Amino acid sequence: MNRHLISDAVGMKGNRVEQFYYPALYSLLGVAAVIALSLQFVNAPYGRYLRNGWGPLVPARLGWVLMETPAVLTITILAITGTMTLLNVLFLCLWQSHYLYRTYVFPFRLRGARPMPLMVPLMAIVFNLWNGFLNGAWLFHLGPHRGTDWLHSPQFIIGVLAFYAGMAINRHSDRILVKLRRDGDTGYHIPHGGMYRYVSMPSYLGEFIQWCGFALATWSLAGLSFAVFTAANLFPRAVANHRWYQKTFADYPPDRRAVLPFLL
Ligand SMILES: NC(=O)c1ccc[n+]([C@@H]2O[C@H](COP(=O)([O-])OP(=O)(O)OC[C@H]3O[C@@H](n4cnc5c(N)ncnc54)[C@H](OP(=O)(O)O)[C@@H]3O)[C@@H](O)[C@H]2O)c1
Repeated sequence: MNRHLISDAVGMKGNRVEQFYYPALYSLLGVAAVIALSLQFVNAPYGRYLRNGWGPLVPARLGWVLMETPAVLTITILAITGTMTLLNVLFLCLWQSHYLYRTYVFPFRLRGARPMPLMVPLMAIVFNLWNGFLNGAWLFHLGPHRGTDWLHSPQFIIGVLAFYAGMAINRHSDRILVKLRRDGDTGYHIPHGGMYRYVSMPSYLGEFIQWCGFALATWSLAGLSFAVFTAANLFPRAVANHRWYQKTFADYPPDRRAVLPFLL
């Protein structure tokens, strides 16, 4: 497939940009609002909220690999078929340093993870195709192709630092959770250490910081919509998990907040 075919296929030429790209971007923000609202009333049915009535189950590892692979592939295809600059390659590295880990390393570290309803990975696949398209199309096809001057801009420097600080918080917090279980254990325990001193769900906080950093470094609405979607999806679950911890463990540390230190 040549580059023009791909460009046409994803609707990125002339007026089609107006007709397809921006509606896709604004609809993602609309969906984020609906999800944030729905999650006030119902918890996504995986992990500690797994329950009957949500269709067939798949093993957690398979679910993770299935749902995150489109995030790895979509941006790769758009990069190969688009304009590669030094800066774009750096953005691609940021993205893939997250998604290669999340898709092909993290799932194989989990211990005693509950299976998930197939509909969870299916919905995540839709999101990852959509989000991968928005970010990849902007970076490699539609957006301004900034020169290396951007490497010295405050947005880029602060954005990349925030991205990796968020990633460090996210991975460290995931590691603490995974180590709480010995082989064969499927129970829940109180996590301690790292950012758990401040919040119940530091992995979600780290993930949010990461994508805020990405939005800043790329200075793009696509990056911003991803950060907004991450908060819409993860913050309500963090609040639910926080309440669950407080109800389940009488000795749960009283000073912890849900996801934003000292705030929420
Ligand atoms: N960008 C996004 O929108 C997005 C969306 C979802 C997840 N994520 C990221 O994916 C990662 C995983 O998040 P998640 O929501 O799937 O799961 P999670 O609640 O962080 O759980 C991860 C693993 O730890 C286990 N676990 C959780 N709490 C535990 C406890 N108190 N004691 C012992 N084990 C515990 C879970 O087991 P069970 O399966 O048995 O509960 C699961 O195997 C996070 O880093 C998150 O930021 C990102």
